[in-house]
Amino acid sequence: MTKYVLAIDQGTTSSRAIIFDKSGSIISTGQLEHEQIFPKAGWVEHDPKEIWDNTREAIGQALSKANITRHDIEAVGITNQRETAVVWDKNTGVPVYNAIVWQDTRTQPIVDRLAADGGVERFKAKVGLPLATYFSGTKIVWILENVEGARGKADAGDLLFGTTDSWVLWNLTGGIEGGVHATDVTNASRTMFMGLDTLEWDDEILAAFDVPKSMLPEIKSSSEVYGIASGHSLLREVPIAGILGDQQAATFGQAAFDQGEAKNTYGTGNFLIFNTGTEIVHSKNGLLTTVGYKLGDGPTHYALEGSIAVTGSLVQWMRDNLGMIKDAAEIEDLAKTVDDNGGAYFVPAFSGLFAPYWRSDARGALVGLTRYVNKGHIARAALEAIAYQTREVLDAVNADSGVPLTELKVDGGATANDLLMQFQADLIGVPVVRPVVAETTALGAAYAAGLAVGFWSGLDDLRANWQEDARWEPSMDKEESERLLRNWKKAVTKTLDWVD
Ligand code: G3P
Repeated sequence: MTKYVLAIDQGTTSSRAIIFDKSGSIISTGQLEHEQIFPKAGWVEHDPKEIWDNTREAIGQALSKANITRHDIEAVGITNQRETAVVWDKNTGVPVYNAIVWQDTRTQPIVDRLAADGGVERFKAKVGLPLATYFSGTKIVWILENVEGARGKADAGDLLFGTTDSWVLWNLTGGIEGGVHATDVTNASRTMFMGLDTLEWDDEILAAFDVPKSMLPEIKSSSEVYGIASGHSLLREVPIAGILGDQQAATFGQAAFDQGEAKNTYGTGNFLIFNTGTEIVHSKNGLLTTVGYKLGDGPTHYALEGSIAVTGSLVQWMRDNLGMIKDAAEIEDLAKTVDDNGGAYFVPAFSGLFAPYWRSDARGALVGLTRYVNKGHIARAALEAIAYQTREVLDAVNADSGVPLTELKVDGGATANDLLMQFQADLIGVPVVRPVVAETTALGAAYAAGLAVGFWSGLDDLRANWQEDARWEPSMDKEESERLLRNWKKAVTKTLDWVD
């Protein structure tokens, strides 16, 4: 009987379940979007209950579309939006507050307080991250300090924290009836609390944040059996055997297993991950150091990461907040109504600027406007913003590694946008390459789970599954691409020092 692996991709805008066969091809997909909750400027929340309900429904959709049952599923992998913090009561299973999303900037005062003693790089040598609102740590502190009764319950050992992988795993394995409270090394490396070399929660950092260790999930590898889906689940008795944060999962799904390999994912944000092998490399150019993957008892693979907060979500914002387009895909046609950006540059610093700037005081700006500029130019400026930000991150990766990348492997929704991909290749001066299965995030989680149960026998099996689908060669004059980049950098300077 043919068997499959099911991946749950709990992302920023939707929860999906995707079923893969042995060749890494997609058999079926279930997907539900969840509400983006913006209670105040800079705040972004999700309802964890809605996320769990949607995840269950997505699993049901995927199974029924493929016309198969849990008996056909060999293992389940989980991948997830990283850093987003859920805190729930382990006795009731009820979250004490909405999930605070990675894009949320409310914790800047907590960041400033912690940075007052030693600066934003205070814990960077240990955890690879600067103090920033992006990571889970300060979000947990905010909940403990602002949700009534949370501190007391946490101190009594009644509260659990998890990124959404842990939340889904705990619910899938039984919740209050013995749910497994665990996460993997890649997700743990985004909290601010895990030592990169120890792979353990760091007591000194936890004390500085005043977060009780009893709240934290057990740190496991990215590929092992964490638990078995409970009797209440459509997947009952199926092992959950892979967890990777979504960007690390995409890197794994792109088969970028070795030192020097990289990928760039175009999602809500953009995330370029560069595999540094088993070595922990600290960036001199504004990149994060993070865990890439760890398979069972195998060695830990590390990575440098260039995180860009706002790329695809800029297009969503133009759709939802401005009504300029009805569907995100329409941005390409609108941008094609003009030949260039007409002098307009759009810096979407909605959550401050992430890599390589790490400026939480930045806010978005649209500059270079004249009466000549129309909505086609603005659409184009939005797409170009995605490419400029990626170019800046790629420059940082090349400077840190000393060996420039000769091509860029890409994945994610916006890689269907031909104009963007061509502009990206023009701007970075090396080919941009997309694989046949552009759903590399879910594929990576499926791979991790399938490896743990012997569905795939090793990395060579997975490498053999990677196939090129499309390639964009650079064709712009270097002088022109450098002129555009200069203007972009000037536009970035207009967004800084905005928040007092
Ligand atoms: O670090 C945030 C990242 O993991 C979110 O990814 O694809 O859900 O936008 P995505």
